Amino acid sequence: MKPKVFITRKLPKEIILQIESLCSIKMWQEEDVPVPYEVLEKEIKEVDGLFCLLTESIDRALMEKAKNLKVISNMAVGYNNIDIQAAEDLGITITNTPGVLTETTADLTFALLMSTARRLVEARDYLKNGEWQTWSPMQLTGQDVFGATIGIIGMGRIGASLAKRAKGFDMNILYYNRSQKLNLEKEFDMQYVELEYLMKQSDFVCVMTPYTKETENLITAKELKMMKETAILINTARGGIVNEADLYQALLKKQIWAAGLDVFEEEPLSLNHPLLSLNNVVALPHIGSASINTRLKMATLAAENLLAALNNQTPKHVVV
Ligand code: DGY
Repeated sequence: MKPKVFITRKLPKEIILQIESLCSIKMWQEEDVPVPYEVLEKEIKEVDGLFCLLTESIDRALMEKAKNLKVISNMAVGYNNIDIQAAEDLGITITNTPGVLTETTADLTFALLMSTARRLVEARDYLKNGEWQTWSPMQLTGQDVFGATIGIIGMGRIGASLAKRAKGFDMNILYYNRSQKLNLEKEFDMQYVELEYLMKQSDFVCVMTPYTKETENLITAKELKMMKETAILINTARGGIVNEADLYQALLKKQIWAAGLDVFEEEPLSLNHPLLSLNNVVALPHIGSASINTRLKMATLAAENLLAALNNQTPKHVVV
């Protein structure tokens, strides 16, 4: 008998075929609507494997309902949507998809940094709204990227790829991490510093760390007050790492110059969220890894992880 798998979102055909070659599958059919919790609660009961996305909150109660569940394959590098302790207690393998999205996410982070620094969205709207009457000396002027100081919080794979891009722009690179990365320091000519020093010295503060109990609310009013008035905060990691209410106040009061955000405490971001009322915010709908190639690679890797675990092999990327 083939193992049973539930897939929480409609996947590209080739990925479905890959999973179907070894499993009998059921799949939530809506492309842009997350599977309701009640549906997941019902489906998880009988399956051996679950293929899910970061939009699904996989809690202990849900996992306890699953009688045969061996593996949950998350199509994301982040896995804060899953209760890892519960999975470990219940002997369920959790897998994720690191590596394949590194460069694409670093690209988006740098794109967000540049568009925030040079006010690209504002400038596009200015033109489209017919406000462009003439060229004038200080019109839509922003901050320089080339030669500025970047502070990278979290020096994992994506943080290092961001450093690579920053080096190309002759930036002075500071980083804060759980541990010092001596090999990368040499490669990118960067300096390991305390968080306070990074917040005070950086022209761009980039949040690149995983979302854990330790990093929740890592950036609050206190840290934002340390930043320069001309500095920009970029977050492409997870919303809960930066306190959104505090960030809104800092931007509103012009304590900091701007923010570029791809992630939020609540996703999707509601249209009446205060951050969207500010001109100095570039907000994106969590598209860090959204290139066609990368999303296909993530889905393929998630499928491989799932199949390996169901085949009693060790998946490439095991969280627990
Ligand atoms: C991840 O993989 O965790 C990203 O946030 C989505 O690509």
